[in-house]
Amino acid sequence: MSLPLSDPSLLRTQCLIDGDWRDAGGGATFAVHNPANEQPLARVADGGAAETTAAIAAARAALPGWRGLTALERARLLRRWHDLVLAHRDDLARLMTLEQGKPLAEARGEIAYGAAYIDWFAEEARRVYGDVIPTTGSDRRLLVIRQPVGVVAAITPWNFPMAMLARKLAPALAVGCTVVAKPAAETPLSALALGELAQRAGIPPGVLNLVAGTDAAAIGAVLTGSRDVAKLSFTGSTAVGKGLLAACAETVKRVSMELGGNAPLLVFDDADLDLAVEGAMAAKFRNAGQTCICANRILVQRGIHDRFVARLGERIASLKVGDGLAEDTTIGPLINGRALAKVEALVAEGVAKGARLLAGGGVLPGPGFFHAPSLVAGVTPAMGLFREEIFGPVAAITPFADEAEAVALANDTEAGLAAYVYTADLGRIWRVSEALDYGMVGVNETAISSEVIPFGGMKSSGMGREGSRHGVDDYLEIKHICLGLGTRSQP
Ligand code: SIN
Repeated sequence: MSLPLSDPSLLRTQCLIDGDWRDAGGGATFAVHNPANEQPLARVADGGAAETTAAIAAARAALPGWRGLTALERARLLRRWHDLVLAHRDDLARLMTLEQGKPLAEARGEIAYGAAYIDWFAEEARRVYGDVIPTTGSDRRLLVIRQPVGVVAAITPWNFPMAMLARKLAPALAVGCTVVAKPAAETPLSALALGELAQRAGIPPGVLNLVAGTDAAAIGAVLTGSRDVAKLSFTGSTAVGKGLLAACAETVKRVSMELGGNAPLLVFDDADLDLAVEGAMAAKFRNAGQTCICANRILVQRGIHDRFVARLGERIASLKVGDGLAEDTTIGPLINGRALAKVEALVAEGVAKGARLLAGGGVLPGPGFFHAPSLVAGVTPAMGLFREEIFGPVAAITPFADEAEAVALANDTEAGLAAYVYTADLGRIWRVSEALDYGMVGVNETAISSEVIPFGGMKSSGMGREGSRHGVDDYLEIKHICLGLGTRSQP
């Protein structure tokens, strides 16, 4: 099968193990489909337990050499990788749109976003400092050094096939860990292309290994069960994350979990209406609503409610649904039929319980997994639209009376990833930002993601932070060295 790429060799379809592109045992393959037309794009080696075991062995063998390089030597390789990613940005974006569905402009944005993590951590790894602790006795000196945890397993989702992988690989590799990564079976091509570019950049064999496959349980069991894997970093659903956490207990692995969100977006009466509507549009409809930090619940104070809803409805009507490769598309398909059915069911349940469907509301005719951009008002905490991650292009509106009710509604969820607040009152900005049980709060702004901020959540949304100067911490062990001087302590 040939895809419209100016560099066709970016289309990799095998597992990357120890620097070699390998078929899966028995030649097993699986099909990757374009969610915009349901047509097959490529067949990819269906890696399983055997390939994962081989990849771990390769990562283990490559570890001493890789962590033995200086931070500057690793940084130079990462920077070369970053430059190659940007040089192939158009092809990588096209590949992503083909397998994931997001509009080409968003895919190009994601390539730049992912590349920025590689650049950032190439820099950060050079500043992994230790400490000298004021001593407790004249016969000793007390030191702290930070060392790579070892072999890292990374499991990444289909909604951001490049950026979510890059923000795990970059800090891990930069500080001297080696990696076995399992990209989502829906979107392996972006990950494999990233592996191809890592090889071209000169990242040594075994340092980065990629195993795509449909038997996630088998691959996950090998990764979590292996004593050679020191750490697991996972981005995906809360349900899968809980299972992985439990599985990691046996070998007491370090874990980073970026799990589901249920982001509230609070609009107070004193908010700038235009700003709030544009923020809600960006946060709700990015990637057709398939992000963990999407504005899942839009909470609007009664005084501004009707104007906000009317304006949001106008903006939703201007969205253009279609194949992400078409220049004017602003909303692509959902990832598959299951996702479409889930969104449809959530809307139907909300309407059955009394919510008002003001726009859209249905599945669009195929082929492709398209859902109409929708607006639902009168959503209550008794509805799935309030309780669950919608992961689709449905704006769900809940009214509130005052600040106390807004905060109570916002925190009425197990999730705690991102929240947004629109208000002009400085005192309220502080009060509400502090009261929200979320790892990230956007104030009068919803485009909060970048490589320089600590991305991550509280409560059931997980643990650990990706990006920022904190992003290396999850891949480092802290080691204390008590250096005896061979003399007796002086009083
Ligand atoms: C996510 O949906 O998990 C990631 C979104 C982002 O990085 O902005």
